[in-house]
Amino acid sequence: MHNSHPIGVFDSGIGGTSIWREINLLLPNENTIYLADSANAPYGNQSPEKIVELSIKNTEYLIDKNCKVIVIACNTATTNAIKLLRNSYDIPFVGIEPAIKPAALNTQSNCIGILATKGTLSSSLFTETSDKFASNIQIIEQAGTGIVELIESGKLHSKEMTLLLEIYLKPMQEKKIDYLVLGCSHYPYLTPQIQHILGKDVTIIDSGFAVAKHVQSIVTSSNLLSDSTDRGTHEFLSNAKDMSTLKSIIGALHSKYSISSLKF
Ligand code: DGL
Repeated sequence: MHNSHPIGVFDSGIGGTSIWREINLLLPNENTIYLADSANAPYGNQSPEKIVELSIKNTEYLIDKNCKVIVIACNTATTNAIKLLRNSYDIPFVGIEPAIKPAALNTQSNCIGILATKGTLSSSLFTETSDKFASNIQIIEQAGTGIVELIESGKLHSKEMTLLLEIYLKPMQEKKIDYLVLGCSHYPYLTPQIQHILGKDVTIIDSGFAVAKHVQSIVTSSNLLSDSTDRGTHEFLSNAKDMSTLKSIIGALHSKYSISSLKF
């Protein structure tokens, strides 16, 4: 493995670009390959076995592309598959999990909300994390069914989205949460809309920066940090029928990238 090899990132679709942007901000000289498995999104409604199968397929693709580390930029894939992936492949993995710990440590109302996919909320890793860090506070859990589909189809700002968010956030408002954890990598793109609904007294947190710091620490401790002084090159691969949403998201994040279609 060489330090010029790319950092591989995968998600069920375009949501993991919210993690990719944090990695790129922190490590601008790293080359990256981003795999968006949009044809199989949403992962959140699939069985744990299917999520594992899809995560293996994405991992093997990125290993074939000589990635030096794999970032699972998907809470659903991390919470269902990371243990198995770590036991099966000799490559470092960085996953993403809902940021329950900082919310539980900082809440004043002792009541926090979490918006995540059904697959994340029902995973044993999520239960373990909640039991470990938040056993003495109330967590209002809400599955964001339908949100990923709207984002993938370019309906980030739509009436349907506003309606879904209002329905999903209402029970949290009633219980007076003071922290909302975004437990799906698609959701940070909704932060302004959610903040508008919840008001400024609720702090919204996601795990993007923490993941980027973890990636930095893994590549540094493995002596795999890029020594290039040039900005990295970035390849985005997607099996979506329509690449326009990915194009508009990446175009707003970066000026130097390539997008190709992925055949699986
Ligand atoms: N973006 C993913 C996550 O963080 C998955 C969403 C989905 O495909 O359901 O959970």
